[in-house]
Amino acid sequence: MIPTPDLSHLTRHDLEQVYDPAEDTFLLLDALEQDAEALRKERPLICLEVGSGSGCVSAFLGKVLGQSSCREFVFIVLRAGLISNLIVYLCTDINKHATCCTLATGKQNKIPLDPVICSLARPLLPRLHHAVDVLLFNPPYVPTDTDEASSAQGIAGIAGSWAGGADGMEIINRLLQDVECLLSPQGRFYLVALKQNNVPSIRSRMLQDFGLTSQVVIERRAGRELLLIIRFARTTPS
Ligand SMILES: C[S@@+](CC[C@H](N)C(=O)[O-])C[C@H]1O[C@@H](n2cnc3c(N)ncnc32)[C@H](O)[C@@H]1O
Repeated sequence: MIPTPDLSHLTRHDLEQVYDPAEDTFLLLDALEQDAEALRKERPLICLEVGSGSGCVSAFLGKVLGQSSCREFVFIVLRAGLISNLIVYLCTDINKHATCCTLATGKQNKIPLDPVICSLARPLLPRLHHAVDVLLFNPPYVPTDTDEASSAQGIAGIAGSWAGGADGMEIINRLLQDVECLLSPQGRFYLVALKQNNVPSIRSRMLQDFGLTSQVVIERRAGRELLLIIRFARTTPS
């Protein structure tokens, strides 16, 4: 069993501003643990977590896969195609406190996480074109008014952790548009969703629009919510 990352460095003040790992986080960890052997076999080089919050999920992925020793060096050699066994863990979040927590969680767990303050993966898209081997997103998926979701995105505070707009899909839909561009030929994308997000519709759209096949790899009831993890991959390598 792979241990949950050490989060003892996070203070109450941190967790008032940043999403405190909960059932959805732990379901994603379970899906990664379930796929650990297959993930290691794929020898991923670039991992990207969108909306990393505390950094718990990326630190866990680091424990599953291992870590790189010097990030600058890794980027240079990756670009030059010289070495193929060092891993980069990129993390994005709109919430600047979350990126600080992600960095601290990486240090606490000796996994070199690289957080970037930005929305989704937008500024990274040109450089990560068909390069991401493991993409993760535990999104703000709770159905809310569109106004509430827009305001939460603008303020970039704790409400951005859950306010998902109509059907809880407004932020998810934005990332779905970019997934095919990001994934490497053997890349996998793990998405946390609620049953109310209309999972069959997400899956059929991703297949029709982008040729990405998917499976619900794990599901669990948490109070009134039915949470699922959907894993996407290409039908055939691009
Ligand atoms: C449900 S929390 C998940 C946090 C963490 N990954 C976990 O599993 O515990 C959603 C995270 O997404 C971030 N987020 C919301 N909208 C975002 C956007 N447009 N781009 C990047 N991150 C976003 C939130 O700030 C929050 O940290």
